[in-house]
Amino acid sequence: MFIPEDKISEILNTSDIVDIVSESVILKKSGQNFFGLCPFHSEKTPSFSVNPAKQIFYCFGCSAGGSAISYVMKYHGLSFVEAVKMLARKYNIVIETPQLDPARRKEIALKEALFGLNKKIMAYYSSILAQNTKADGARQYLEKRGITQKTIDAFHLGYAMDQWDGVVTFFKNEKISRQAALQSGLILPRKQNNGFYDRFRNRIMFPIFDINMQVAGFGGRVMDDQMPKYLNSPETPVYSKSRILYGLHAAKPYCRKNGTVYIVEGYFDFLTLFQNGIKNTVASLGTALTSEHVRILKGYAPTMVLVFDSDAAGINAAKRSITIFMKEGVDTRILVLPRGDDPDTYVMNHGPEAFLDLAGQAKSVMQFLLRTAMDTHGLSVEGRIRILDEMKHHLADIQDSALRSVHVRELAETLNIDERAVLEKIKEQVVQRKQGQPFVPDSRGQEQSFASDPREKQLLALMLHCPDIIPEVTASGVLDCFYSQRLCRIAKIIVNADPVEKSFVTHVMAKMEQERDKQLIASLAMADGFGEETDLGNTAMSIINRIIRIKKKKENILTAKIMRAEKVCDADVMELLKLKQQEIRQIHDGQ
Ligand code: UTP
Ligand code: MN
Repeated sequence: MFIPEDKISEILNTSDIVDIVSESVILKKSGQNFFGLCPFHSEKTPSFSVNPAKQIFYCFGCSAGGSAISYVMKYHGLSFVEAVKMLARKYNIVIETPQLDPARRKEIALKEALFGLNKKIMAYYSSILAQNTKADGARQYLEKRGITQKTIDAFHLGYAMDQWDGVVTFFKNEKISRQAALQSGLILPRKQNNGFYDRFRNRIMFPIFDINMQVAGFGGRVMDDQMPKYLNSPETPVYSKSRILYGLHAAKPYCRKNGTVYIVEGYFDFLTLFQNGIKNTVASLGTALTSEHVRILKGYAPTMVLVFDSDAAGINAAKRSITIFMKEGVDTRILVLPRGDDPDTYVMNHGPEAFLDLAGQAKSVMQFLLRTAMDTHGLSVEGRIRILDEMKHHLADIQDSALRSVHVRELAETLNIDERAVLEKIKEQVVQRKQGQPFVPDSRGQEQSFASDPREKQLLALMLHCPDIIPEVTASGVLDCFYSQRLCRIAKIIVNADPVEKSFVTHVMAKMEQERDKQLIASLAMADGFGEETDLGNTAMSIINRIIRIKKKKENILTAKIMRAEKVCDADVMELLKLKQQEIRQIHDGQ
Protein backbone atom coordinates (compact mmCIF):
# COMPACT_ATOMS: atom_id res chain seq x y z
CA MET A 1 0.00 0.00 0.00
CA PHE A 2 1.20 3.48 -0.84
CA ILE A 3 0.95 6.28 1.72
CA PRO A 4 1.32 9.77 0.26
CA GLU A 5 4.30 11.77 1.47
CA ASP A 6 2.19 14.61 2.83
CA LYS A 7 0.38 12.14 5.09
CA ILE A 8 3.70 10.95 6.44
CA SER A 9 4.73 14.56 7.09
CA GLU A 10 1.42 15.21 8.78
CA ILE A 11 1.88 12.21 11.04
CA LEU A 12 5.45 13.20 11.90
CA ASN A 13 4.39 16.76 12.60
CA THR A 14 1.45 15.77 14.77
CA SER A 15 2.95 12.94 16.77
CA ASP A 16 5.18 13.46 19.76
CA ILE A 17 8.04 11.03 20.07
CA VAL A 18 8.38 11.50 23.84
CA ASP A 19 4.74 10.58 24.18
CA ILE A 20 5.12 7.53 21.98
CA VAL A 21 8.33 6.21 23.52
CA SER A 22 6.96 6.81 27.03
CA GLU A 23 4.34 4.18 26.40
CA SER A 24 7.05 1.56 26.51
CA VAL A 25 10.13 3.11 28.13
CA ILE A 26 10.48 5.02 31.37
CA LEU A 27 12.06 8.33 30.39
CA LYS A 28 13.80 10.84 32.62
CA LYS A 29 14.62 14.33 31.48
CA SER A 30 18.24 15.37 31.50
CA GLY A 31 19.12 18.63 29.77
CA GLN A 32 17.44 18.81 26.40
CA ASN A 33 17.04 15.07 26.06
CA PHE A 34 15.16 12.31 27.79
CA PHE A 35 16.99 9.15 28.80
CA GLY A 36 15.84 5.61 29.53
CA LEU A 37 16.79 1.95 29.27
CA CYS A 38 17.02 0.87 25.66
CA PRO A 39 14.22 -1.50 24.63
CA PHE A 40 16.37 -2.84 21.80
CA HIS A 41 19.32 -4.22 23.73
CA SER A 42 20.12 -5.28 27.27
CA GLU A 43 21.51 -2.60 29.50
CA LYS A 44 21.57 -1.50 33.11
CA THR A 45 22.36 2.16 32.68
CA PRO A 46 20.32 4.29 30.31
CA SER A 47 21.97 5.08 26.99
CA PHE A 48 18.73 5.40 25.07
CA SER A 49 17.87 9.02 24.40
CA VAL A 50 14.96 10.92 22.96
CA ASN A 51 15.23 14.46 21.68
CA PRO A 52 11.86 16.24 21.72
CA ALA A 53 13.02 19.23 19.69
CA LYS A 54 14.25 17.06 16.83
CA GLN A 55 11.62 14.37 17.38
CA ILE A 56 14.11 11.53 17.20
CA PHE A 57 15.46 8.74 19.36
CA TYR A 58 18.97 7.34 19.46
CA CYS A 59 20.68 4.69 21.54
CA PHE A 60 24.33 5.41 22.30
CA GLY A 61 24.72 1.73 23.21
CA CYS A 62 23.36 -0.12 20.18
CA SER A 63 23.03 2.72 17.64
CA ALA A 64 19.34 2.13 17.09
CA GLY A 65 17.80 5.41 16.07
CA GLY A 66 15.21 7.16 14.01
CA SER A 67 11.93 8.97 14.01
CA ALA A 68 8.69 8.16 15.80
CA ILE A 69 7.78 5.92 12.87
CA SER A 70 11.05 3.98 13.09
CA TYR A 71 10.47 3.55 16.82
CA VAL A 72 7.00 2.13 16.41
CA MET A 73 8.26 -0.18 13.64
CA LYS A 74 11.12 -1.48 15.70
CA TYR A 75 9.33 -1.76 19.00
CA HIS A 76 6.18 -3.43 17.76
CA GLY A 77 7.86 -5.32 14.94
CA LEU A 78 5.72 -3.62 12.31
CA SER A 79 6.31 -2.74 8.70
CA PHE A 80 6.62 0.91 7.73
CA VAL A 81 3.04 1.09 6.54
CA GLU A 82 1.68 -0.64 9.63
CA ALA A 83 3.61 1.75 11.89
CA VAL A 84 2.37 4.78 9.99
CA LYS A 85 -1.17 3.50 10.29
CA MET A 86 -0.82 2.84 13.99
CA LEU A 87 0.33 6.42 14.55
CA ALA A 88 -2.38 7.76 12.26
CA ARG A 89 -4.98 5.96 14.37
CA LYS A 90 -3.48 7.31 17.56
CA TYR A 91 -3.59 10.89 16.33
CA ASN A 92 -6.88 10.60 14.45
CA ILE A 93 -5.32 11.21 11.07
CA VAL A 94 -7.32 9.64 8.27
CA ILE A 95 -5.46 7.77 5.57
CA GLU A 96 -7.56 6.51 2.71
CA THR A 97 -6.85 2.83 2.25
CA PRO A 98 -7.97 1.83 -1.21
CA GLN A 99 -5.64 -1.05 -1.94
CA LEU A 100 -4.54 -3.07 1.10
CA ASP A 101 -3.19 -6.42 0.00
CA PRO A 102 -5.96 -8.99 0.34
CA ALA A 103 -4.09 -11.48 2.55
CA ARG A 104 -3.19 -8.77 5.03
CA ARG A 105 -6.69 -7.35 4.99
CA LYS A 106 -8.07 -10.78 5.79
CA GLU A 107 -5.60 -11.19 8.67
CA ILE A 108 -6.56 -7.85 10.19
CA ALA A 109 -10.24 -8.59 9.78
CA LEU A 110 -9.83 -11.96 11.49
CA LYS A 111 -8.01 -10.39 14.44
CA GLU A 112 -10.69 -7.78 14.82
CA ALA A 113 -13.37 -10.44 14.61
CA LEU A 114 -11.64 -12.51 17.30
CA PHE A 115 -11.30 -9.59 19.68
CA GLY A 116 -14.95 -8.74 19.16
CA LEU A 117 -16.04 -12.29 19.70
CA ASN A 118 -13.93 -12.71 22.85
CA LYS A 119 -15.49 -9.58 24.25
CA LYS A 120 -18.97 -10.97 23.70
CA ILE A 121 -18.06 -14.28 25.31
CA MET A 122 -16.55 -12.43 28.27
CA ALA A 123 -19.88 -10.67 28.77
CA TYR A 124 -21.69 -13.99 28.32
CA TYR A 125 -19.59 -15.77 30.99
CA SER A 126 -19.80 -12.89 33.43
CA SER A 127 -23.56 -12.52 33.10
CA ILE A 128 -23.90 -16.22 33.93
CA LEU A 129 -21.78 -15.72 37.04
CA ALA A 130 -23.82 -12.69 38.05
CA GLN A 131 -27.32 -14.03 37.42
CA ASN A 132 -27.65 -17.71 36.69
CA THR A 133 -28.83 -19.91 39.59
CA LYS A 134 -26.58 -22.65 38.23
CA ALA A 135 -23.62 -20.40 39.09
CA ASP A 136 -24.33 -20.49 42.85
CA GLY A 137 -21.45 -22.89 43.34
CA ALA A 138 -19.10 -20.65 41.39
CA ARG A 139 -20.06 -17.58 43.39
CA GLN A 140 -19.58 -19.49 46.64
CA TYR A 141 -16.21 -20.73 45.43
CA LEU A 142 -14.99 -17.20 44.73
CA GLU A 143 -16.30 -16.02 48.07
CA LYS A 144 -14.54 -18.87 49.85
CA ARG A 145 -11.32 -17.80 48.15
CA GLY A 146 -11.82 -14.25 49.42
CA ILE A 147 -12.44 -12.61 46.04
CA THR A 148 -14.70 -9.57 46.44
CA GLN A 149 -17.47 -8.45 44.09
CA LYS A 150 -15.37 -5.42 43.24
CA THR A 151 -12.54 -7.65 42.02
CA ILE A 152 -14.97 -9.88 40.11
CA ASP A 153 -16.30 -6.80 38.33
CA ALA A 154 -12.93 -5.17 37.73
CA PHE A 155 -11.48 -8.27 36.11
CA HIS A 156 -14.72 -9.45 34.50
CA LEU A 157 -14.60 -12.90 36.05
CA GLY A 158 -17.25 -15.28 34.82
CA TYR A 159 -18.54 -18.82 34.83
CA ALA A 160 -18.77 -21.42 32.05
CA MET A 161 -21.77 -23.66 32.68
CA ASP A 162 -21.57 -27.41 33.00
CA GLN A 163 -22.75 -28.06 29.45
CA TRP A 164 -21.22 -28.96 26.08
CA ASP A 165 -22.94 -26.40 23.90
CA GLY A 166 -23.14 -23.11 25.79
CA VAL A 167 -20.72 -21.17 23.59
CA VAL A 168 -21.62 -23.28 20.54
CA THR A 169 -25.25 -22.15 20.81
CA PHE A 170 -24.23 -18.58 21.56
CA PHE A 171 -22.12 -18.49 18.38
CA LYS A 172 -25.02 -19.94 16.38
CA ASN A 173 -27.46 -17.34 17.66
CA GLU A 174 -25.00 -14.54 17.01
CA LYS A 175 -24.29 -15.91 13.50
CA ILE A 176 -20.54 -15.91 14.13
CA SER A 177 -18.57 -17.14 11.12
CA ARG A 178 -17.35 -20.71 11.38
CA GLN A 179 -13.73 -19.68 10.79
CA ALA A 180 -13.69 -17.05 13.55
CA ALA A 181 -15.54 -19.36 15.93
CA LEU A 182 -13.01 -22.15 15.45
CA GLN A 183 -9.97 -19.87 15.51
CA SER A 184 -11.09 -18.40 18.83
CA GLY A 185 -10.19 -21.68 20.53
CA LEU A 186 -13.41 -21.48 22.53
CA ILE A 187 -15.01 -24.41 20.72
CA LEU A 188 -13.58 -27.64 19.32
CA PRO A 189 -14.79 -29.99 16.56
CA ARG A 190 -16.26 -33.27 17.80
CA LYS A 191 -14.24 -36.40 17.12
CA GLN A 192 -16.97 -37.87 14.90
CA ASN A 193 -16.80 -34.66 12.90
CA ASN A 194 -20.44 -33.88 13.52
CA GLY A 195 -20.50 -30.45 15.08
CA PHE A 196 -18.60 -28.73 17.89
CA TYR A 197 -18.37 -28.58 21.67
CA ASP A 198 -17.32 -26.00 24.29
CA ARG A 199 -13.70 -26.01 25.46
CA PHE A 200 -14.53 -24.53 28.86
CA ARG A 201 -17.16 -26.32 30.94
CA ASN A 202 -18.01 -25.91 34.60
CA ARG A 203 -15.13 -23.56 35.22
CA ILE A 204 -14.57 -20.15 36.77
CA MET A 205 -13.54 -18.00 33.82
CA PHE A 206 -10.75 -15.42 33.75
CA PRO A 207 -10.58 -13.22 30.66
CA ILE A 208 -7.00 -12.39 29.72
CA PHE A 209 -6.54 -8.84 28.47
CA ASP A 210 -3.74 -7.56 26.30
CA ILE A 211 -2.02 -4.26 26.91
CA ASN A 212 -4.60 -2.40 24.84
CA MET A 213 -7.42 -3.75 27.02
CA GLN A 214 -8.65 -6.15 24.38
CA VAL A 215 -9.71 -9.64 25.41
CA ALA A 216 -7.05 -11.91 23.96
CA GLY A 217 -7.99 -15.22 25.58
CA PHE A 218 -9.35 -16.99 28.66
CA GLY A 219 -8.32 -19.19 31.52
CA GLY A 220 -10.72 -21.41 33.42
CA ARG A 221 -10.44 -23.15 36.81
CA VAL A 222 -12.33 -26.14 38.08
CA MET A 223 -13.91 -25.75 41.51
CA ASP A 224 -12.88 -29.10 42.90
CA ASP A 225 -9.76 -31.23 42.49
CA GLN A 226 -10.41 -32.42 38.97
CA MET A 227 -7.62 -32.32 36.44
CA PRO A 228 -6.52 -30.24 34.72
CA LYS A 229 -6.96 -27.60 37.40
CA TYR A 230 -6.63 -24.79 34.88
CA LEU A 231 -7.36 -24.73 31.19
CA ASN A 232 -6.19 -21.84 28.99
CA SER A 233 -7.02 -20.65 25.49
CA PRO A 234 -4.70 -22.16 22.90
CA GLU A 235 -2.42 -19.90 20.85
CA THR A 236 -4.63 -17.92 18.48
CA PRO A 237 -3.98 -14.98 16.15
CA VAL A 238 -4.71 -12.70 19.13
CA TYR A 239 -3.35 -14.76 22.04
CA SER A 240 0.33 -15.48 22.33
CA LYS A 241 1.58 -16.99 25.59
CA SER A 242 5.06 -15.65 25.09
CA ARG A 243 3.85 -12.04 25.12
CA ILE A 244 0.87 -11.86 27.42
CA LEU A 245 1.08 -11.22 31.14
CA TYR A 246 -2.11 -11.52 33.13
CA GLY A 247 -3.11 -8.27 34.80
CA LEU A 248 -0.63 -5.97 33.09
CA HIS A 249 -3.44 -3.92 31.55
CA ALA A 250 -4.51 -2.95 35.08
CA ALA A 251 -1.10 -2.96 36.76
CA LYS A 252 0.61 -0.67 34.24
CA PRO A 253 0.26 2.67 36.03
CA TYR A 254 1.13 1.16 39.42
CA CYS A 255 4.29 -0.47 38.05
CA ARG A 256 5.34 2.90 36.68
CA LYS A 257 4.66 4.69 39.92
CA ASN A 258 6.42 2.08 42.01
CA GLY A 259 9.36 1.27 39.79
CA THR A 260 8.92 -2.36 40.82
CA VAL A 261 6.77 -5.13 39.46
CA TYR A 262 5.96 -8.39 41.26
CA ILE A 263 5.78 -11.37 38.95
CA VAL A 264 3.64 -14.16 40.36
CA GLU A 265 2.46 -17.38 38.77
CA GLY A 266 -1.27 -17.72 39.11
CA TYR A 267 -4.58 -15.97 38.54
CA PHE A 268 -5.48 -16.02 42.22
CA ASP A 269 -2.02 -14.83 43.24
CA PHE A 270 -2.52 -11.80 41.04
CA LEU A 271 -6.11 -11.10 42.10
CA THR A 272 -5.40 -11.41 45.82
CA LEU A 273 -2.38 -9.13 45.67
CA PHE A 274 -4.21 -6.57 43.55
CA GLN A 275 -7.27 -6.68 45.80
CA ASN A 276 -5.04 -6.10 48.81
CA GLY A 277 -3.47 -2.99 47.35
CA ILE A 278 -0.34 -4.57 45.89
CA LYS A 279 -1.32 -3.49 42.41
CA ASN A 280 2.10 -3.50 40.76
CA THR A 281 1.77 -7.19 40.00
CA VAL A 282 1.44 -9.40 36.94
CA ALA A 283 1.00 -13.16 36.57
CA SER A 284 2.96 -15.37 34.18
CA LEU A 285 0.17 -17.97 34.22
CA GLY A 286 2.53 -20.81 34.99
CA THR A 287 4.33 -20.60 31.65
CA ALA A 288 8.05 -20.01 31.38
CA LEU A 289 8.88 -16.32 31.16
CA THR A 290 10.31 -15.23 27.83
CA SER A 291 12.60 -12.37 26.88
CA GLU A 292 9.58 -10.79 25.21
CA HIS A 293 7.80 -10.74 28.57
CA VAL A 294 10.81 -9.16 30.20
CA ARG A 295 11.20 -6.52 27.48
CA ILE A 296 7.56 -5.59 27.76
CA LEU A 297 7.83 -5.26 31.54
CA LYS A 298 11.00 -3.19 31.25
CA GLY A 299 8.83 -0.47 29.82
CA TYR A 300 6.92 -0.22 33.08
CA ALA A 301 9.36 -0.91 35.90
CA PRO A 302 13.14 -1.19 36.14
CA THR A 303 13.06 -3.58 39.11
CA MET A 304 11.35 -6.95 38.91
CA VAL A 305 10.63 -9.26 41.81
CA LEU A 306 10.05 -12.89 40.91
CA VAL A 307 7.81 -14.44 43.52
CA PHE A 308 8.00 -18.21 43.81
CA ASP A 309 6.77 -21.05 46.00
CA SER A 310 9.54 -22.71 47.97
CA ASP A 311 8.83 -26.21 46.65
CA ALA A 312 11.26 -27.81 44.20
CA ALA A 313 9.05 -26.88 41.23
CA GLY A 314 9.04 -23.24 42.33
CA ILE A 315 12.81 -23.11 42.79
CA ASN A 316 13.38 -24.72 39.40
CA ALA A 317 10.98 -22.33 37.71
CA ALA A 318 12.86 -19.44 39.33
CA LYS A 319 16.18 -20.76 38.07
CA ARG A 320 14.87 -21.15 34.53
CA SER A 321 13.52 -17.61 34.44
CA ILE A 322 16.65 -16.07 35.89
CA THR A 323 18.76 -16.63 32.78
CA ILE A 324 16.30 -14.59 30.75
CA PHE A 325 16.34 -11.73 33.22
CA MET A 326 20.13 -11.69 33.39
CA LYS A 327 20.45 -11.60 29.63
CA GLU A 328 18.07 -8.67 29.54
CA GLY A 329 20.17 -6.90 32.16
CA VAL A 330 17.24 -6.26 34.47
CA ASP A 331 17.56 -5.55 38.19
CA THR A 332 15.91 -8.74 39.39
CA ARG A 333 15.14 -9.96 42.90
CA ILE A 334 13.94 -13.37 43.92
CA LEU A 335 11.36 -13.76 46.63
CA VAL A 336 10.93 -17.33 47.78
CA LEU A 337 7.93 -17.67 50.03
CA PRO A 338 7.91 -19.80 53.20
CA ARG A 339 7.25 -23.48 52.60
CA GLY A 340 3.65 -24.28 51.79
CA ASP A 341 2.64 -20.75 50.79
CA ASP A 342 1.99 -19.12 47.46
CA PRO A 343 1.43 -15.35 47.15
CA ASP A 344 -2.32 -15.81 47.42
CA THR A 345 -2.31 -17.86 50.63
CA TYR A 346 0.49 -15.77 52.12
CA VAL A 347 -1.40 -12.50 51.74
CA MET A 348 -4.70 -14.09 52.78
CA ASN A 349 -3.10 -15.46 55.96
CA HIS A 350 -0.63 -12.75 56.90
CA GLY A 351 -1.84 -9.59 55.16
CA PRO A 352 -0.26 -7.35 52.53
CA GLU A 353 2.17 -5.62 54.94
CA ALA A 354 3.78 -8.95 55.84
CA PHE A 355 4.14 -9.67 52.13
CA LEU A 356 5.78 -6.31 51.49
CA ASP A 357 8.14 -6.86 54.44
CA LEU A 358 9.19 -10.15 52.97
CA ALA A 359 9.55 -8.61 49.53
CA GLY A 360 11.87 -6.00 51.00
CA GLN A 361 14.25 -8.80 51.92
CA ALA A 362 14.10 -10.45 48.48
CA LYS A 363 17.51 -11.71 47.43
CA SER A 364 19.45 -10.58 44.41
CA VAL A 365 19.70 -13.18 41.67
CA MET A 366 23.29 -14.04 42.49
CA GLN A 367 22.58 -14.36 46.20
CA PHE A 368 19.68 -16.63 45.37
CA LEU A 369 21.64 -18.83 42.99
CA LEU A 370 24.57 -19.05 45.36
CA ARG A 371 22.30 -19.90 48.28
CA THR A 372 20.53 -22.70 46.37
CA ALA A 373 23.85 -24.06 45.09
CA MET A 374 25.25 -24.03 48.64
CA ASP A 375 22.15 -25.81 49.92
CA THR A 376 22.55 -28.48 47.26
CA HIS A 377 26.30 -29.07 47.31
CA GLY A 378 27.51 -28.04 50.76
CA LEU A 379 30.82 -26.30 51.48
CA SER A 380 33.25 -29.21 51.35
CA VAL A 381 36.11 -28.84 48.85
CA GLU A 382 34.19 -30.91 46.33
CA GLY A 383 31.02 -29.02 47.08
CA ARG A 384 32.69 -25.68 46.45
CA ILE A 385 34.06 -26.88 43.11
CA ARG A 386 30.56 -27.97 42.11
CA ILE A 387 29.16 -24.63 43.19
CA LEU A 388 31.76 -22.83 41.11
CA ASP A 389 30.92 -25.06 38.13
CA GLU A 390 27.28 -24.19 38.47
CA MET A 391 27.83 -20.48 39.01
CA LYS A 392 30.16 -20.00 36.05
CA HIS A 393 27.22 -20.42 33.67
CA HIS A 394 25.27 -17.68 35.40
CA LEU A 395 28.25 -15.35 35.64
CA ALA A 396 28.99 -15.77 31.96
CA ASP A 397 25.41 -14.69 31.24
CA ILE A 398 26.02 -11.25 32.75
CA GLN A 399 26.67 -8.84 29.88
CA ASP A 400 27.76 -5.87 31.96
CA SER A 401 31.44 -6.39 32.79
CA ALA A 402 31.48 -4.10 35.84
CA LEU A 403 28.52 -5.92 37.33
CA ARG A 404 30.11 -9.25 36.55
CA SER A 405 33.30 -8.39 38.38
CA VAL A 406 31.31 -7.42 41.48
CA HIS A 407 29.72 -10.85 41.50
CA VAL A 408 32.98 -12.61 40.79
CA ARG A 409 34.52 -10.98 43.86
CA GLU A 410 31.49 -11.87 45.98
CA LEU A 411 31.58 -15.47 44.88
CA ALA A 412 35.32 -15.77 45.41
CA GLU A 413 34.95 -14.42 48.94
CA THR A 414 32.02 -16.65 49.86
CA LEU A 415 33.72 -19.80 48.60
CA ASN A 416 37.13 -18.70 49.84
CA ILE A 417 38.62 -19.28 46.38
CA ASP A 418 41.11 -17.08 44.56
CA GLU A 419 39.31 -14.49 42.38
CA ARG A 420 41.54 -15.40 39.43
CA ALA A 421 40.35 -19.01 39.59
CA VAL A 422 36.77 -17.81 39.29
CA LEU A 423 37.66 -15.60 36.32
CA GLU A 424 39.46 -18.49 34.68
CA LYS A 425 36.32 -20.63 34.93
CA ILE A 426 34.18 -17.94 33.35
CA LYS A 427 36.63 -17.53 30.51
CA GLU A 428 36.44 -21.27 29.84
CA GLN A 429 32.69 -21.00 29.76
CA VAL A 430 32.69 -18.06 27.36
CA VAL A 431 35.16 -19.80 25.01
CA GLN A 432 33.07 -22.97 25.05
CA ARG A 433 30.00 -21.02 24.08
CA LYS A 434 31.75 -19.19 21.28
CA GLN A 435 32.97 -22.47 19.80
CA GLY A 436 29.41 -23.66 19.57
CA GLN A 437 28.30 -20.52 17.72
CA PRO A 438 28.74 -19.46 14.12
CA PHE A 439 31.07 -16.50 13.68
CA VAL A 440 29.12 -13.29 13.27
CA PRO A 441 31.17 -10.25 12.32
CA ASP A 442 30.32 -7.11 14.22
CA SER A 443 29.11 -4.67 11.62
CA ARG A 444 29.38 -1.70 13.96
CA GLY A 445 33.06 -2.40 14.50
CA GLN A 446 33.62 -2.48 10.78
CA GLU A 447 32.12 0.90 10.24
CA GLN A 448 34.32 2.39 12.93
CA SER A 449 37.51 0.98 11.47
CA PHE A 450 36.75 2.66 8.14
CA ALA A 451 35.88 5.97 9.75
CA SER A 452 35.76 8.76 7.22
CA ASP A 453 37.01 12.29 7.75
CA PRO A 454 35.20 13.25 10.97
CA ARG A 455 34.60 16.75 9.59
CA GLU A 456 32.24 15.38 6.98
CA LYS A 457 30.03 13.95 9.70
CA GLN A 458 30.35 17.15 11.73
CA LEU A 459 29.09 19.15 8.81
CA LEU A 460 26.10 16.85 8.39
CA ALA A 461 25.34 17.18 12.08
CA LEU A 462 25.50 20.97 11.79
CA MET A 463 23.08 21.01 8.87
CA LEU A 464 20.62 18.88 10.83
CA HIS A 465 21.04 21.06 13.86
CA CYS A 466 20.71 24.35 12.03
CA PRO A 467 19.19 24.11 8.53
CA ASP A 468 19.91 27.85 8.07
CA ILE A 469 23.47 27.06 7.06
CA ILE A 470 22.41 24.79 4.20
CA PRO A 471 22.49 27.46 1.46
CA GLU A 472 26.11 28.23 2.34
CA VAL A 473 27.00 24.55 2.26
CA THR A 474 25.48 24.19 -1.19
CA ALA A 475 27.16 27.33 -2.50
CA SER A 476 30.61 26.29 -1.29
CA GLY A 477 30.60 23.12 -3.38
CA VAL A 478 32.00 21.25 -0.41
CA LEU A 479 29.79 18.22 -0.99
CA ASP A 480 31.76 17.34 -4.09
CA CYS A 481 34.90 17.35 -1.98
CA PHE A 482 33.58 14.66 0.40
CA TYR A 483 35.68 11.53 0.38
CA SER A 484 32.84 9.38 1.61
CA GLN A 485 30.38 8.78 -1.16
CA ARG A 486 27.85 7.61 1.36
CA LEU A 487 28.08 10.82 3.39
CA CYS A 488 27.97 12.82 0.18
CA ARG A 489 24.78 11.03 -0.90
CA ILE A 490 23.20 11.63 2.51
CA ALA A 491 24.31 15.26 2.55
CA LYS A 492 22.61 15.81 -0.80
CA ILE A 493 19.36 14.46 0.59
CA ILE A 494 19.64 16.87 3.52
CA VAL A 495 20.37 19.77 1.20
CA ASN A 496 17.30 18.97 -0.88
CA ALA A 497 14.94 18.54 2.06
CA ASP A 498 12.40 21.19 2.86
CA PRO A 499 13.73 23.30 5.76
CA VAL A 500 10.34 24.69 6.72
CA GLU A 501 9.08 21.36 8.04
CA LYS A 502 8.38 21.48 11.77
CA SER A 503 10.66 18.59 12.44
CA PHE A 504 13.44 18.87 9.92
CA VAL A 505 15.34 15.80 11.11
CA THR A 506 12.40 13.40 10.86
CA HIS A 507 11.54 14.91 7.51
CA VAL A 508 15.06 14.09 6.30
CA MET A 509 14.82 10.61 7.77
CA ALA A 510 11.61 9.94 5.93
CA LYS A 511 13.55 10.46 2.71
CA MET A 512 16.16 7.82 3.59
CA GLU A 513 15.62 4.39 2.17
CA GLN A 514 18.09 2.40 4.21
CA GLU A 515 17.62 1.73 7.89
CA ARG A 516 21.34 2.28 8.58
CA ASP A 517 21.17 5.72 6.99
CA LYS A 518 18.27 6.64 9.25
CA GLN A 519 20.31 5.49 12.23
CA LEU A 520 23.24 7.57 11.12
CA ILE A 521 20.98 10.62 10.85
CA ALA A 522 19.67 9.95 14.35
CA SER A 523 23.16 9.65 15.79
CA LEU A 524 24.33 12.83 14.04
CA ALA A 525 21.27 14.76 15.12
CA MET A 526 21.86 13.72 18.71
CA ALA A 527 25.36 15.15 18.72
CA ASP A 528 25.59 18.34 20.73
CA GLY A 529 28.24 20.69 22.04
CA PHE A 530 28.09 22.98 19.00
CA GLY A 531 28.24 26.01 21.23
CA GLU A 532 26.27 29.22 20.78
CA GLU A 533 23.66 29.29 18.05
CA THR A 534 25.22 32.46 16.65
CA ASP A 535 28.61 30.81 16.11
CA LEU A 536 27.23 27.91 14.12
CA GLY A 537 27.66 29.69 10.81
CA ASN A 538 31.34 30.31 11.55
CA THR A 539 31.89 26.76 12.72
CA ALA A 540 30.31 25.48 9.53
CA MET A 541 32.45 27.74 7.36
CA SER A 542 35.67 26.66 8.99
CA ILE A 543 34.73 22.98 8.56
CA ILE A 544 33.83 23.59 4.93
CA ASN A 545 37.11 25.34 4.24
CA ARG A 546 39.06 22.59 5.95
CA ILE A 547 37.40 19.86 3.88
CA ILE A 548 38.00 21.76 0.65
CA ARG A 549 41.63 22.50 1.55
CA ILE A 550 42.39 18.90 2.44
CA LYS A 551 40.83 17.66 -0.75
CA LYS A 552 42.88 20.14 -2.78
CA LYS A 553 46.05 19.20 -0.97
CA LYS A 554 45.56 15.49 -1.49
CA GLU A 555 44.70 16.07 -5.11
CA ASN A 556 47.71 18.29 -5.63
CA ILE A 557 50.02 15.69 -4.21
CA LEU A 558 48.52 13.00 -6.41
CA THR A 559 48.48 15.20 -9.48
CA ALA A 560 52.10 16.07 -8.92
CA LYS A 561 52.96 12.42 -8.63
CA ILE A 562 50.97 11.56 -11.74
CA MET A 563 52.69 14.35 -13.65
CA ARG A 564 56.07 13.15 -12.51
CA ALA A 565 55.22 9.63 -13.60
CA GLU A 566 54.03 10.95 -16.94
CA LYS A 567 57.30 12.75 -17.40
CA VAL A 568 59.28 9.57 -17.07
CA CYS A 569 56.63 7.66 -19.03
CA ASP A 570 56.00 5.19 -16.22
CA ALA A 571 52.61 3.83 -17.26
CA ASP A 572 52.52 1.29 -14.43
CA VAL A 573 53.01 3.91 -11.75
CA MET A 574 50.39 6.10 -13.39
CA GLU A 575 47.93 3.25 -13.42
CA LEU A 576 48.65 2.57 -9.73
CA LEU A 577 48.21 6.20 -8.78
CA LYS A 578 44.87 6.44 -10.55
CA LEU A 579 43.74 3.27 -8.86
CA LYS A 580 44.75 4.78 -5.56
CA GLN A 581 42.65 7.83 -6.30
CA GLN A 582 39.59 5.63 -6.75
CA GLU A 583 40.44 3.48 -3.81
CA ILE A 584 40.51 6.37 -1.39
CA ARG A 585 36.99 7.24 -2.38
CA GLN A 586 35.75 3.71 -1.91
CA ILE A 587 37.35 3.19 1.48
CA HIS A 588 35.87 6.41 2.68
CA ASP A 589 32.47 5.28 1.56
CA GLY A 590 32.35 3.22 4.75
CA GLN A 591 31.02 0.11 3.02
P1 UTP B 1 -0.59 -23.58 40.50
O1 UTP B 1 -0.81 -25.05 40.34
O2 UTP B 1 0.55 -23.11 41.32
O3 UTP B 1 -1.96 -23.09 41.02
O4 UTP B 1 -0.48 -22.97 39.05
P2 UTP B 1 -2.45 -21.76 41.73
O5 UTP B 1 -2.31 -20.58 40.86
O6 UTP B 1 -1.93 -21.66 43.11
O7 UTP B 1 -3.97 -22.08 41.71
P3 UTP B 1 -4.98 -22.11 42.88
O8 UTP B 1 -4.55 -21.16 43.90
O9 UTP B 1 -4.99 -23.52 43.36
O10 UTP B 1 -6.25 -21.75 42.21
C1 UTP B 1 -0.03 -21.68 38.78
C2 UTP B 1 -0.58 -21.22 37.48
O11 UTP B 1 -0.21 -22.13 36.45
C3 UTP B 1 -1.21 -22.26 35.48
C4 UTP B 1 -2.33 -21.35 35.93
O12 UTP B 1 -2.20 -20.10 35.26
C5 UTP B 1 -2.09 -21.21 37.40
O13 UTP B 1 -2.66 -20.05 37.95
N1 UTP B 1 -1.72 -23.65 35.42
C6 UTP B 1 -1.69 -24.46 36.51
C7 UTP B 1 -2.25 -24.12 34.25
O14 UTP B 1 -2.29 -23.40 33.24
N2 UTP B 1 -2.77 -25.38 34.20
C8 UTP B 1 -2.77 -26.20 35.28
O15 UTP B 1 -3.28 -27.32 35.19
C9 UTP B 1 -2.21 -25.73 36.46
MN1 MN C 1 -2.76 -20.77 44.73
